[in-house]
Amino acid sequence: MSRQILVTSALPYANGSIHLGHLVEYIQTDIWVRFQKMRGHDCRYMCADDTHGTAIMLRAEKEGITPETLIQRVWDEHTRDFAGFHIGFDHYYSTHSDENRALASKIFLALKDAGLIEVKTIAQLYDPVKNLFLPDRFIKGECPKCGAADQYGDNCEVCGATYSPTELKNPVSAVSGATPVHKDSEHYFFKLGDCEAFLREWTTSGALQAEAANKMQEWFASGLNNWDISRDAPYFGFEIPGAPGKYFYVWLDAPVGYMASFARYAADNGLDFDAWWGADSKTELVHFIGKDILYFHALFWPAMLKYSGHRLPTAVYAHGFLTVNGQKMSKSRGTFITAESYLAQKLNPEWLRYYYAAKLNGSMEDIDLNLDDFVARVNSDLVGKFINIASRTAGFIHKNFEGKLADGVANIELIGAFQAAAGTIATHYEARDYAKALREIMALADRANQYVADEKPWELAKKPEAVYRLHEVCTVALNCFRLLTLYLKPVLPKLAEQVEAFLNIPPLAWEDSQSLFIRHRINAYNHLMTRIDPKSIEAMVAANKQNLEPTPAPAPARHAEAQVHAAQPAAAPVADTISINDFAKIDLRIARIANAEHVEGADKLLRLTLDLGELGTRQVFAGIKSAYAPETLVGRLTVMVANLAPRKMKFGMSEGMVLAASGDAPGLFILSPDSGAQPGMKVK
Ligand code: MSP
Ligand code: ZN
Repeated sequence: MSRQILVTSALPYANGSIHLGHLVEYIQTDIWVRFQKMRGHDCRYMCADDTHGTAIMLRAEKEGITPETLIQRVWDEHTRDFAGFHIGFDHYYSTHSDENRALASKIFLALKDAGLIEVKTIAQLYDPVKNLFLPDRFIKGECPKCGAADQYGDNCEVCGATYSPTELKNPVSAVSGATPVHKDSEHYFFKLGDCEAFLREWTTSGALQAEAANKMQEWFASGLNNWDISRDAPYFGFEIPGAPGKYFYVWLDAPVGYMASFARYAADNGLDFDAWWGADSKTELVHFIGKDILYFHALFWPAMLKYSGHRLPTAVYAHGFLTVNGQKMSKSRGTFITAESYLAQKLNPEWLRYYYAAKLNGSMEDIDLNLDDFVARVNSDLVGKFINIASRTAGFIHKNFEGKLADGVANIELIGAFQAAAGTIATHYEARDYAKALREIMALADRANQYVADEKPWELAKKPEAVYRLHEVCTVALNCFRLLTLYLKPVLPKLAEQVEAFLNIPPLAWEDSQSLFIRHRINAYNHLMTRIDPKSIEAMVAANKQNLEPTPAPAPARHAEAQVHAAQPAAAPVADTISINDFAKIDLRIARIANAEHVEGADKLLRLTLDLGELGTRQVFAGIKSAYAPETLVGRLTVMVANLAPRKMKFGMSEGMVLAASGDAPGLFILSPDSGAQPGMKVK
């Protein structure tokens, strides 16, 4: 019987790029959706950008654009990246939409009517310079437990303690650098505690994985806190009806974004919204999420749905986090890899889809992208085993049989075994155990390869009396290849399309697994997939390392490092405020210019050798040739940025930056310390 299934992935924040960690989720969901569609079910895949909150507001302000402009730009980037990995959303919307505003307000008012909203005055840290209540992540200070400096307002990265931002010692606002003050304000709370009986029951309804259901028991045991769902202006989001100056906290309207995305899609496609979201809906609602946002999806969201008169999720499937080479993704190691940078290396997106699928087993365990294993596995499974079957047999069909498969095959045992596997493979896909599905599929591929190796069509082709045998062997092999393609299609949709074109067949659906592929003219074989070149993996990692290099903001005192000078936009009147902590990250040192010389072929640069006393010497290329003859510089003291990431320039490595002033008037002026300063001294 055909099922109606509404599937979602978590809505990515509109303040960052899609990276390979995100893709674990979107690829996992996309495979499931494609599988359901191949099975003939009515499955709709909804998603959107999650656009609200302080972070997005501040980022837009920093870039000097409106939040609306920012979220539009990010939407363009996100949808481009997802399309690049063949994520086939049926609709990709934005939480900053009319539908979402209306639905979030409606749900809030329903919860209020149900007596589940209360108003309380609470004290929070407030930035008196920016006139802004500060989210935890925008407050830094010393850890109340271990005293470590420069810790965020919610937890300490040194000792692991969690605390509230008001407990931080010597807090500073990461937005302005000001010392935050305590300030009272009224907040709206969703009384989650009152929903406990319902939630306890829902937990055991089978919607959650066993691991997640256990986690819920821990949460019940430690007590459900009421949930603060309002934020004060200024905030980028939706104003709460009947509460001027109060906005829905981003996490209130974010899950409603699933509904809103569907609402718009339903309106555009003539579907009945209530049939999918009403309390007695007969459809399925399936959410794919990362384990970090389980609390929102297993507690807040079902409670919101229940008490606003909507249907409940059929399933919430949480997955683990991505590690790269066994470690957390890291910008300094170059393993914080953006989707864009992967595609920029011309790496095939289906390689990653295959590798993730081979690792995903439907549990909440983390999954590791080991880059060496990635290359080895894709090359051996996809190219070595799967593609190989076609590339070793298709040519004979063309050369010897005018592109036509045999009219029948005497021995259909092997094909029968392939057909019989359809049910088991489907069960694994349904259970999101793609790892098991692919193991089955690759075991079949091994059998097909063994068959080809045993039958040796290339030898049959040399014997005129073996012509029927040759035709049969190649036909059997291509039947196997067609079935493998069908089984892999949820994972490799583009490749499957290419194969469908090559085999000259309509799009493969799951039920086609039971038919025989004979008496049919195929098209010429063109190579379907190449091997991964490990060099492009190295290049991708290198490119992501470079992402880390600071892009200096225009500041009144300009530095004289050539590359940056050229790319510098017109000087802004005043640079953005930075915190004392940001400033402390810059290691400024007194340097003695030990040597200065012209650089062959460069018309702006001088090569400086800087003596930092005990810290050794550095080579720096500085764009100051127009202002200084090299010999006049030797021996003098100046100031340099000593911890700038070294960068490779055309003429060699530049290991820092010398400070110099420039303005509208001509001239460039290197800074000098007062007499008495010594090379290597810190400048603060
Ligand atoms: N905006 C919220 C979700 C709101 S849903 C109503 C959010 N956004 S996110 O951009 O941070 O993450 C989007 C999804 O990607 C989440 O499910 C998250 O768990 C997942 N991942 C983000 N980084 C990840 C890894 N490194 N590894 C695996 N999944 C990861 O959370
Ligand atoms: Zn600590």
